[in-house]
Amino acid sequence: MQRQGKTMSEPVKISVRVNGTRYVRSVLPRIHLVDFLREELGIMGARLGCEHGVCGACTLRLDGEIVRGCLVLAVQANGAEVETVEGASDRGDLAELQQAFHARNALQCGYCTPGMLMTAAELVAAQPDATRAQVREFISGNYCRCTGYHAIVDAICDVLDRRRAPGAPARA
Ligand code: FES
Ligand code: FES
Repeated sequence: MQRQGKTMSEPVKISVRVNGTRYVRSVLPRIHLVDFLREELGIMGARLGCEHGVCGACTLRLDGEIVRGCLVLAVQANGAEVETVEGASDRGDLAELQQAFHARNALQCGYCTPGMLMTAAELVAAQPDATRAQVREFISGNYCRCTGYHAIVDAICDVLDRRRAPGAPARA
């Protein structure tokens, strides 16, 4: 019988910009974006943890939106702009947060840190007036097995505090 269209086992050609560089590759339709980045492109910043959308280790930006790289298929990124922690870091987008994480000892093994930084950067941009409780809530989808979260929340609050207008009321 004649087959119609492509099957899940046939590679599909995609073109995607990652951290400013365009890549054209053939990928199997079942390959997730984070696997594509790590295994095909050697871009290792987005980590693999649960592979089920729970831990946040694979957090990256797809066309400017924070997504879980383990829940997006590489073929869904065809024609899109992907940014990982490497790209965001090179642009200087994470510099304040990186400094604050360092100053507050907000990482130990560092496995969660790329995803945590990407999520924190989204928070700093989207909710500059976030309370400490809101910071906790915002990063609650990013798991850290080492730090107990306090230092991470402290680091993010430090960045928010530095950006607040002089004389603004103290953070709740
Ligand atoms: S590896 Fe994607 S959310 Fe855990
Ligand atoms: S620093 Fe180890 S998992 Fe967060």
